[in-house]
Amino acid sequence: MLRENTLTQSIQTEALLSDKKDYNMEDLTFVLFGATGDLAKRKLFPALYNLFLEGKMPESFSVIGLGRREWSHEFFREKIAESLELYSRRDVQEELLPKFLNHFQYCALDVTNPAAYEHLHAMIRQGEETKATSGNRLFYLSVAPNFIELIAENLNRAGLNQTTGWRRLIIEKPFGTDLQTARRLNKKLSEAFDEVEIYRIDHYLGKPMVQNLASLVFANPAVGSLLDLKKISNVQITASEIVGVETRADYYDHAGAIRDMVQNHLLQLVMMTALHLPETITADEISMKKIEVIQSLRPIKQDEAYRDVIRAQYDAGEINGEPVIRYLDEPGVEENSKNDTYFAARLHIDNDAWRDIPFYIRTGKRLDKKSTRIVFEFKNPVRESLPAEETVPNLLILEINPHEGITLRLNVKDESSEFFQPAYINFTKPSDNLADAYELLLFDAMLGNATFFAHWNEVELSWQWIQPLLEAFENNQVPLHTYPAGSTGPKAADDLLKQDGFAWW
Ligand code: BG6
Repeated sequence: MLRENTLTQSIQTEALLSDKKDYNMEDLTFVLFGATGDLAKRKLFPALYNLFLEGKMPESFSVIGLGRREWSHEFFREKIAESLELYSRRDVQEELLPKFLNHFQYCALDVTNPAAYEHLHAMIRQGEETKATSGNRLFYLSVAPNFIELIAENLNRAGLNQTTGWRRLIIEKPFGTDLQTARRLNKKLSEAFDEVEIYRIDHYLGKPMVQNLASLVFANPAVGSLLDLKKISNVQITASEIVGVETRADYYDHAGAIRDMVQNHLLQLVMMTALHLPETITADEISMKKIEVIQSLRPIKQDEAYRDVIRAQYDAGEINGEPVIRYLDEPGVEENSKNDTYFAARLHIDNDAWRDIPFYIRTGKRLDKKSTRIVFEFKNPVRESLPAEETVPNLLILEINPHEGITLRLNVKDESSEFFQPAYINFTKPSDNLADAYELLLFDAMLGNATFFAHWNEVELSWQWIQPLLEAFENNQVPLHTYPAGSTGPKAADDLLKQDGFAWW
């Protein structure tokens, strides 16, 4: 049976490779800072491997992995092979693996030592000469945020960004810790790279269902008619997680849900949802439209934040029958920490399309389930004629994570009674073997397509919107509620919607 499976996989892989489309990819050197880290292991190597299997890597590419540790090329390749065994969505093909790993080299580098970059530069140039490539360089900074400025400065100083080909820089979040630090970081980066060369990863923009939002209305006139904004009463965006702070207290206890999830992922989801495009448009136009949305997001003043924003921290509780400790008892969390592990808010987008439709957003750790979704709630015409509890509003639900799907909730009359029953029309994408966000994003970055990366203006305007809330949190002007681990969040978040006659879906 095992042999049969292996044989089938091998045939499938051959088919995959022989089915190669010509993506017109240019050769490149991929310079990976943080190659010994967790992200590289879990996401980046598997993403590159799956792209390789799909023929979505250039004919000629080399990856130079950088880390503090003294590893040999061989040891580095062994580590990559291990990570593929553990995390690749496609099984590792023994016969193709050496071919893939041959593209990888390792170089120990102390990012704080400017002289080390000279050595790296020589290594890159040598590779470019041997392979007679055109000098395209992609720098990926998968490092702790405090090193990003320094690395950009050192790349610039040592001239690694001077090349005959194109140069691109991919950076991971967090992009700064507030408006001021984000601006400073951007200034530093722009000394070494132009804005069009900087690819700020927000992995939520790599999720296929989020990418679909840009063309949903255009490609589906039916959805366009459904989403006639006059008929929508509110929009709810949820990103709930079961996991707690895990081993990241060092970072998370200072970031909180507001910086970790809201400033980036949730506000990006708001922008993508509010795009509502009746036509296909270019990457630049998408970015402009997103900027228009975030510019129209009604500011919440620091001293009024308590009216529209809920923050909370998880208390002890139970998830899947297992007891869970409270946030304050997690290793590494400061005693009496006031950090938020939950955030909810009521937003208004002051443009013609969305002015009368509130957006509610929420995210939290240690909640009852893992789910990222966008729910459009429709106005409820039958509510007037029947008691409220006997009717349900129509809902259009876009599931983003962990499953992808679209559900329409309708009211259907039950012959045996005068009441309506909810009925569901449901499309769920099979969730096995879905391309990971990093595959889509790395592929786009290699092709120079920045559609699903965060432009500086989006990032800056998001921080600008968030800044008064950070200050309100800092000055305790928004109460810190608690919620039991394993629940749906604090009661205060339910009350926020109740004030407007709604409930969370
Ligand atoms: C990351 C956050 O950006 O997103 C994590 O730092 C969070 O705290 C994660 O767990 C959630 O991503 P996803 O794709 O699992 O919804």
